[in-house]
Amino acid sequence: MFIREVTPSFIKNSRGERTVQIGLVTYEGKFKASAPSGKSKGKHEVPSYNSKGIDRSMKLLRAFCKRLENRNFMIRKIDDLKLLVKLVRRFEARYGRLGGNVTYALESVFLKAAAADNNKELWEFINDEVNKGSKPKMPRPVGNCIGGGLHSKLIKGRRPDFQEFLFIPREKTFSRAVTVNLRAYEYARKLLRAQGKNDENAWRTNKTNEETLDVLKAVAKKYKLRIGLDVAASTFYGKGYYNYKNKNLIRDKVDQADYIERMIKKYRIFYVEDGMQEEDFSGFKEILNATKENKFKSLIVGDDLTTTNLRLVRRAVNGGAINAMIIKPNQIGSILEVKNVVNFCKKNKIVMIFSHRSGETMDDVLADYCIGFGGQFLKTGIFGRERLIKLKRIIDIEKKLK
Ligand code: PGA
Ligand code: ZN
Repeated sequence: MFIREVTPSFIKNSRGERTVQIGLVTYEGKFKASAPSGKSKGKHEVPSYNSKGIDRSMKLLRAFCKRLENRNFMIRKIDDLKLLVKLVRRFEARYGRLGGNVTYALESVFLKAAAADNNKELWEFINDEVNKGSKPKMPRPVGNCIGGGLHSKLIKGRRPDFQEFLFIPREKTFSRAVTVNLRAYEYARKLLRAQGKNDENAWRTNKTNEETLDVLKAVAKKYKLRIGLDVAASTFYGKGYYNYKNKNLIRDKVDQADYIERMIKKYRIFYVEDGMQEEDFSGFKEILNATKENKFKSLIVGDDLTTTNLRLVRRAVNGGAINAMIIKPNQIGSILEVKNVVNFCKKNKIVMIFSHRSGETMDDVLADYCIGFGGQFLKTGIFGRERLIKLKRIIDIEKKLK
């Protein structure tokens, strides 16, 4: 793969913030990739940019990209990305950090070009190696329908404290599941008398967590959906307490685990992400163990807890804290690291949910990562062009494989 030109630029994400896009020209064609950005980020994510900010990252990236031009890269499998990673490390050691968002976009654009160079789709390029060529299974969508917490502005001083109220269809095909989620999303707007949308196009409301769960449950019943929550507990945790603003009450660790367990039981919640703050491994374990007593299965999901970081994933899995985890490639900034996490999850039967970020771009590469690496779920917003483009990519692959 001969590199003719590499051109970084700034683009705006769905929240209107600047992010990095990288264009790459090889003899096979032109490729581009860009990075999404989180708002309720995990404390242990790699920094998105250089400590001096995004402009410094861009300056460094421009200098680095110049060095790549007129070079030849032999990338026959994902592991060959090491060639690029080594150059990045050497450059960073001398000039300073590029940041996780930048290395994510860089690795993504190289992988897109490498897949084309090998006459494959990106998901295929990954799948043939990671799943040894077996026909990939389509994931199921996890769709964000109603929002609270950090992603949503207050309405008359209130909002749900939980960040995301989710739908998980049981439909057999991904395309059918997306249609059902869209219908449920419209029906939820009516029942909720929603007041606008948040960062991920989820409906805004000033209801409490439980009032919102009542609405979610009513919609789920009509469309035969399972429901989920991203509590994002770290975003309202401080100094040992969970501060519930909507009802103006605080819970300590024991009360918090107890509350989440009660909610799971009462509403038959299938999916619970970050029910405890990001460093409370034993709290997660308590919830996971409690759900084993229920008559239905729940996924206890780590996001801020694990930050796609193998060291933290190992700790969570070996300690019995989770049975599922979020994979956000830009949390760790490297697809090679993602591959290690994926292998560990597979070995330990941990369910993988590939996830967008709240600030998204028009890049659909996440869909290829999800299918290629064998993720069981893809989590995105239900509506909005940056979310729909990823869902559409899965639908297209599903059609092709029929
Ligand atoms: P973020 O949050 O993309 O704003 O970090 C999404 C999530 O917590 O799942
Ligand atoms: Zn989350």
